[in-house]
Amino acid sequence: MSLMDTAAAQRQALPRRPVGDYYATPTRCTEALLAADPPPWGDVWEPACGDGAIAKVLKAAGGYVPVATDLHDRGYGTKHVDFLEERRLWAPSIVTNPPFNLADEFALHALGLGAGYVALFQRLSWLEGAKRHARLWSKHPPSRVWVFSSRQTLWRGDDPDPKGTGGAIAFAWFVWRHGWAGGTQLGWLQTPDPRAVAAGLM
Ligand SMILES: C[S@@+](CC[C@H](N)C(=O)[O-])C[C@H]1O[C@@H](n2cnc3c(N)ncnc32)[C@H](O)[C@@H]1O
Repeated sequence: MSLMDTAAAQRQALPRRPVGDYYATPTRCTEALLAADPPPWGDVWEPACGDGAIAKVLKAAGGYVPVATDLHDRGYGTKHVDFLEERRLWAPSIVTNPPFNLADEFALHALGLGAGYVALFQRLSWLEGAKRHARLWSKHPPSRVWVFSSRQTLWRGDDPDPKGTGGAIAFAWFVWRHGWAGGTQLGWLQTPDPRAVAAGLM
């Protein structure tokens, strides 16, 4: 069996979605957030850190001390910390890409803990939904929604030979700043199109 066959077989054996909804955030997405709408300098909690895809960018930026935790052991940060069970704010700011199926709970919990700045990376379609509107958006409108103009490619964190999601989903950063009274503002983030980068066009 060739190496390619082995990788394809391993991929077929993976569950339909990775455990903990583990998809890694591309570096450029976090860099774009830090350029456009950064958290205050200092400690920043990444409470679903995965392998540190976001935390490592925070650290590299200088001025931030990432405090990284995750429910699962991904080889980075403090493992076996269920964010939704935490009663203590580990840092005044929270930046993460939470599991899609728990995104509402992550947002409500982060805001309930009293974080001064919360930034969540999610599908743009997270804005939709009547129940979600009643529970989240109507009570806690974000200060900014930052839409990526180019589609972003996310990789399954558990794939031994990652192929990416193919950029079929629109993503955005959703930011809350404590005390913000300016209504929700919409902004756009320009990142190089990953396909253009791969093709040497950018
Ligand atoms: C979409 S991945 C994102 C990983 C990382 N934040 C990144 O941006 O690359 C979601 C992560 O949330 C973690 N997770 C799932 N449920 C959790 C919970 N209740 N508390 C903390 N982490 C959780 C998973 O283990 C996974 O690493």
